[in-house]
Amino acid sequence: MNQSSNRGLFITLEGIDGAGKTTQFDAVVRTLRGAGRHVTATREPGGTPLGERIRELLLHETMTTSTEVLLMFAARQEHVLRVIEPALLRGHDVVCDRFTDATLAYQGAGKGIPQDRLQTLARWVHPGLQPDFTLLIDVPVELAVQRLHAQQRETDRFERESAEFFARVRQHYLGMAAAEPERWRVIDGERNVDLVRDDVIFNIKKIIQHIE
Ligand SMILES: Nc1ncnc2c1ncn2[C@@H]1O[C@H](COP(=O)(O)OP(=O)(O)OP(=O)(O)O)[C@@H](O)[C@H]1O
Ligand SMILES: [Mg+2]
Repeated sequence: MNQSSNRGLFITLEGIDGAGKTTQFDAVVRTLRGAGRHVTATREPGGTPLGERIRELLLHETMTTSTEVLLMFAARQEHVLRVIEPALLRGHDVVCDRFTDATLAYQGAGKGIPQDRLQTLARWVHPGLQPDFTLLIDVPVELAVQRLHAQQRETDRFERESAEFFARVRQHYLGMAAAEPERWRVIDGERNVDLVRDDVIFNIKKIIQHIE
């Protein structure tokens, strides 16, 4: 691993809308803290005051996909410089609900922005920084859609995308996980919340053992 021994771990959660990332987020944080580690918990888009304002625009305003990508990376720039990097340097683990992989999957595979263009922005905004470990909570699209519909709240712009869109996003996530298995941990998110949580905790404990 290309990190000094006192630098924290950067752990991200990924998966399509409704997969269960936010539901499992606390289990990741608690498991790390339970092992005596310091944790900074954050999310994207957002994670800073300006980033959270950009998040509101991204979730609710109509815009072209290029605008969406540029706002996503603008929020990410603030997040990396003000929160993620400083926390890692202080020795905190950073647990982040979505990061650049979500942009590669959603705006890239989902909406057709070329991957190399997204990679160029990623190299500009966070050169040398990528997650140490990524948990992919994987569920079939139909199940994710059912879960979102069962929630009694208004959907955001991303959640209103088609099943075909989410199928492309899911496949892209699975492809990235297969291409880089030392970073990704694929969690079967189809099971009930408790079983998924047990699997999440098991994987985080293994990661801690692996690095300590
Ligand atoms: N394993 C599960 N079984 C059944 N329902 C679940 C499971 N995990 C999460 N849910 C429910 O599905 C809905 C979506 O979960 P959650 O908000 O955690 O997904 P998410 O991946 O964070 O989605 P988004 O990308 O839209 O933020 C919630 O209502 C949650 O309670
Ligand atoms: Mg969520």
